[in-house]
Amino acid sequence: MDKLNILVVGGGGREHAVIKKLMESPKAGKIYAAPGNGGIALDGAECFPVKATDIDGMVALAEKLQPDLVVVTPDDPLVLGMVDVLESKGFKAFGPHKNAAIIEGSKMFSKNLMKKYGIPTAEFEVFNDYEKAVAYVKEKGAPIVVKADGLALGKGVVVAQTVEEAIEALDSIMLDKKFGASGSNVVIEECLFGREMSVLAFTDGKVVKPMVSAQDHKRVFDDDKGPNTGGMGTYAPSPIYTPDVADYCMKNIFLPTVNAMNSEGRTFKGVLYFGLMKTKKGVKVIEYNARFGDPETQVVLPLLESDLVDIMVACADGNLENIDIKWADKAAVCVVLASGGYPGSYESGFEITGLENAAGTVYHAGTKLVDGKILTAGGRVLGVTNIGKDLADARDKSYKDVEKISFQGAFCRKDIAKNV
Ligand code: AMP
Ligand code: GLY
Repeated sequence: MDKLNILVVGGGGREHAVIKKLMESPKAGKIYAAPGNGGIALDGAECFPVKATDIDGMVALAEKLQPDLVVVTPDDPLVLGMVDVLESKGFKAFGPHKNAAIIEGSKMFSKNLMKKYGIPTAEFEVFNDYEKAVAYVKEKGAPIVVKADGLALGKGVVVAQTVEEAIEALDSIMLDKKFGASGSNVVIEECLFGREMSVLAFTDGKVVKPMVSAQDHKRVFDDDKGPNTGGMGTYAPSPIYTPDVADYCMKNIFLPTVNAMNSEGRTFKGVLYFGLMKTKKGVKVIEYNARFGDPETQVVLPLLESDLVDIMVACADGNLENIDIKWADKAAVCVVLASGGYPGSYESGFEITGLENAAGTVYHAGTKLVDGKILTAGGRVLGVTNIGKDLADARDKSYKDVEKISFQGAFCRKDIAKNV
């Protein structure tokens, strides 16, 4: 059996989880990462200092390493078209083309797609004229949701509780151009109420195979207080994603989305992420992402029992239909350890100790390996994941592990997967 050498683009906890799972495969040869991080390096994947957004640099690296597969994980390189460029140079790549990654890259695109194909989502209007947007907000009243059209590091969404707050959001997105060109257009939509859940799905553009459901915790403090973060923890599966809900989503959301993308000439292959809300009027799509979620991947992939190399190659080659994907009938909980001050400013470069004492898996998000020591190098530093027979069991194990790990200023939420 020929082993595949694989280059993974990115350097967060999500990429560490992808790499650890790839390493479990007997089909994986050498694993490379760019830029990677301390934990990825410690696991034996060679890391190269090429930024995930540097398309020319990544192509040059691929030409040097000649990997059999390149896995493009983060949103920006996908939206910039890294997969298209790699394929044009003859490399096999896992991830959507640029014309399909737009499903995440433009909220205006994704909302119009859902409207055109009858996929359930919040009612909305798109504006590029500030005065008209303000008039619309005043007419509709609050609560109301304002979204910058483009990628905005997950910070381009404001769920405004008052009309004033919504207008402030329009000011910063449309007038002050807080998110640059991302703010030329805004989506203003109805505020939905209900519990959220995320479903990531593998697709080759023909069939769609959902992973186990998950839920992240976006706010920095317990009880969902404080500002939004990249995610302070996550758990899988989501108890509200029942078999009936899964059935409904497959028929009304997952398949229609993949088919809609085909009808638009924008076949999507890779991981399609469905951010969903269970409202009184049924499940609706809050957002799409064109990739694995972070930190959701740190609880979903540990439950994968099938070979990730096979799955990724099948997605790239268009024969996912022939792959049987199995998931453990267990639960997983990931608690994020962050640097003091995050998501505001924080210091880094502190040594992390106790990692070897963890019973579960510690995914590195913001770390670097320097002279054999692991140092903090980001806001979210580690994701501590455990598998258990249920969520309570997995949670207990992860919090026990968290006690064993330390670095200056470390903090975590204490209520991950608690009130579910
Ligand atoms: P997004 O970046 O689109 O995932 O939005 C970030 C968060 O804003 C979501 O996870 C929801 O909690 C919230 N959100 C987005 N759209 C809506 C909506 N229409 N109604 C209520 N909450 C929303
Ligand atoms: N955890 C949400 C995301 O990856 O966008």
